[in-house]
Amino acid sequence: MTSTPLHELIIADDDAGIRDMLARAFAKDFRVSTAKDGQEAIALLDRGRPAAVLVDEMMPGATGTQVLEHAKTLFPDVPRLLMTASNDTERAMGAINRGEIHRFYTKPLKVLEVRRAVLDLVERAHSEEALRTELRALRLLKETSLARGFVTRLLLLGGATDRGDRIEAAARTRNFVVNRVATGADMPAALMAQAADLVVLLRDDTIDVRALANLAHSIDEATAVVIVDGAPDVIHAVEALEVGAVDYIAAPYPDETALARRLERTAARPRSLRDMRRLTFDLIVANRELAMARKRAEQEHLKLLNAMIRALEARDSYTAGHTDRVAGISVRCGQTLGLDVLRQENLRMGALLHDIGKLGVRDDVLLKPGRLTPVEFDIIKTHTTIGANLLREIEQFQCILPIVRGHHEKIDGTGYPDSLAGEAISMEVRIVSASDVLDALTSTRPYRRGSQPEEAFQIIDDVVGKHLDAQVVGALKQLHADGRLLELLQVDGDKAEGPAPYRF
Ligand SMILES: [Fe+2]
Ligand SMILES: [Fe+2]
Repeated sequence: MTSTPLHELIIADDDAGIRDMLARAFAKDFRVSTAKDGQEAIALLDRGRPAAVLVDEMMPGATGTQVLEHAKTLFPDVPRLLMTASNDTERAMGAINRGEIHRFYTKPLKVLEVRRAVLDLVERAHSEEALRTELRALRLLKETSLARGFVTRLLLLGGATDRGDRIEAAARTRNFVVNRVATGADMPAALMAQAADLVVLLRDDTIDVRALANLAHSIDEATAVVIVDGAPDVIHAVEALEVGAVDYIAAPYPDETALARRLERTAARPRSLRDMRRLTFDLIVANRELAMARKRAEQEHLKLLNAMIRALEARDSYTAGHTDRVAGISVRCGQTLGLDVLRQENLRMGALLHDIGKLGVRDDVLLKPGRLTPVEFDIIKTHTTIGANLLREIEQFQCILPIVRGHHEKIDGTGYPDSLAGEAISMEVRIVSASDVLDALTSTRPYRRGSQPEEAFQIIDDVVGKHLDAQVVGALKQLHADGRLLELLQVDGDKAEGPAPYRF
């Protein structure tokens, strides 16, 4: 667990017993701040960002939902959990559907379960924050790298002479970065270490002007070479022209300001070519860094996705094989219907995560083997909106939100959560719904054997055009006729057995 006692957890409940119990349960993980009513909780939030907020719904001052609404406005990423009395789940449902809370628990609380959920949500919020920080750092790096491109770098060859000191002083008034080397032998290393915009050669008999100018240009032809001579000499001036120097300066030297202006103009001459190269280079670097960051972000999302699927599988063994099979059937069905590769990939991801919202459904309801009461069924139904809310903040999952939210919609508008009908339900959603039903009907459960595909299709025929799309069911039948359905229905050999019955 990454949270340290420095992170604050806000607990609000008007029942002192529950407050104390929760404060003790989290004492090792967080710096716990407690509030005995809604107003106190809001005041705690106004003090600064906590790691998570866990509040009771029925409190004087402000309800838990109102406190969490406030928390969402101030700190959208902070995990928000609500506790309610077991006969007051309606408001919690509303809050879940509006995306105001991440989890809710009914009293009496299972403290261990609540603790696990808080730690898990905080950990996840931390890793997402770490990723955002990394991306910010990268952006900064890119900006400084571009800014660096406009500093003029001057390489000055010549020992400690008056000429050298004058050049250096003048260059520094224009904020050039000056690197000074004493002998021609030091030049190659200095040029290789840092591309110079301007190379100033203090001419004397010990240096080979021609060789050094060639060297500078062979490393970067845009480098401006300037020859600074002790006394004016026509032969030296001609030589300077011949070696491609852009300026020849000889005593008496201009004063510092004039010299600085002259150096700056010289450096600016090949500037556009040089800047273009530098920008290209920086762009290549920035692109590579961005690609790496994107890759890292994708890997993080994949890890998150896998963790979510594993968490759901651990709770509900039926889902384990189910999501894999629905993904397999959906993709094959999409292929049969001529969907392109991108849409097939969305189908796969959407099918894998279609029931992920069950993470937010209480065990006693999710895992109940018998018939559900209408209230329990309403709770089960929230898995569609909980799932969509869970994935909503993550860019990569945007394209599968309609599948996760809409996989229980029906063609005739009698489905949930949005009672969408007909064309309002996309082809991807229709494919996942039909594959979901087909797999559920053919799965063996403790209380009934799974149907053979033929029997399943008979049952499905009764709801074609009402619940399921005729074209999609046609494609599924085609797959079966081609002999490709059986292997898809048995992804893990035998189909997983589990207590969660499928409900239309
Ligand atoms: Fe579902
Ligand atoms: Fe399902």
